Amino acid sequence: MPENVLDVRDVTKVFERKGQPSLRAVDGVSFSVGRGECVGLVGGSGCGKTTIARLVTRLIEPTSGSIALNGRDIHESADGVQMVFQNPAASFDPRRTLGQGAAEALINAGMPKPEARKQVVALFERCGLPADFVGRYAYEVSGGQCQRAAIARALAPDPSLIVLDEATSALDVTVQAQIVSLLRDVRAQRACAYLFICHDLALVQGFCDRLLVMWRGRIVEEGPTAEVIASPKHPYTRELLEAAFV
Ligand SMILES: Nc1ncnc2c1ncn2[C@@H]1O[C@H](COP(=O)(O)OP(=O)(O)OP(=O)(O)O)[C@@H](O)[C@H]1O
Ligand SMILES: [Mg+2]
Repeated sequence: MPENVLDVRDVTKVFERKGQPSLRAVDGVSFSVGRGECVGLVGGSGCGKTTIARLVTRLIEPTSGSIALNGRDIHESADGVQMVFQNPAASFDPRRTLGQGAAEALINAGMPKPEARKQVVALFERCGLPADFVGRYAYEVSGGQCQRAAIARALAPDPSLIVLDEATSALDVTVQAQIVSLLRDVRAQRACAYLFICHDLALVQGFCDRLLVMWRGRIVEEGPTAEVIASPKHPYTRELLEAAFV
């Protein structure tokens, strides 16, 4: 089995815009995520974090460069990666229950419905939701409960990587801590890797093994979380730290 779940090599994404110059949202970015590793991607608004998330989950195509999952180009197979979004309610179809949403990937992969349902109930319980939540709709649960359901849905296909784009940013601080603790438990059990996108350095500090600092489409600094926080090398990292720990 390849050592890295994700290898991003020299990836650039240029957006063409009508009547405006094109925008280089991601500019020659390279990084890897090891098996079971939790990597934080931090940086200010508009620096290209969500664009990276969308590239890695194949929602958009890079202008140049390559992306491999478990050693295989994502064009061969994008299996193995799942995403959790900032706004959990909007990520569920309002006409379908949370359980139906979470079972979809399993049923599409050919699992018989009763078995998929059973697995989803187990995943909901694993994520701290009572079994009857599978029958609820996104608008019938709190933001934190909905994010738990989104994590259960992401876990259903047993991914080797979950990309979390500001997955806790819309939640209040107590709920944020509960979600991070759930993610930590899940990782301990499943050896699932995370690309944890977040602008809150205080939150990534206790959670991520390694940090990537992004600035204007580039990764300007990377290293073990404690090292980056204790002795930031790039001026932008220092700026981020000052803003986070005043
Ligand atoms: N589809 C698109 N077309 C044109 N420009 C885009 C598109 N998507 C993103 N951009 C631009 O690319 C840049 C990077 O956007 P991105 O959403 O990746 O930033 P971000 O780091 O996630 O910011 P935030 O912290 O605010 O979520 C921004 O200038 C944005 O306006
Ligand atoms: Mg974003």
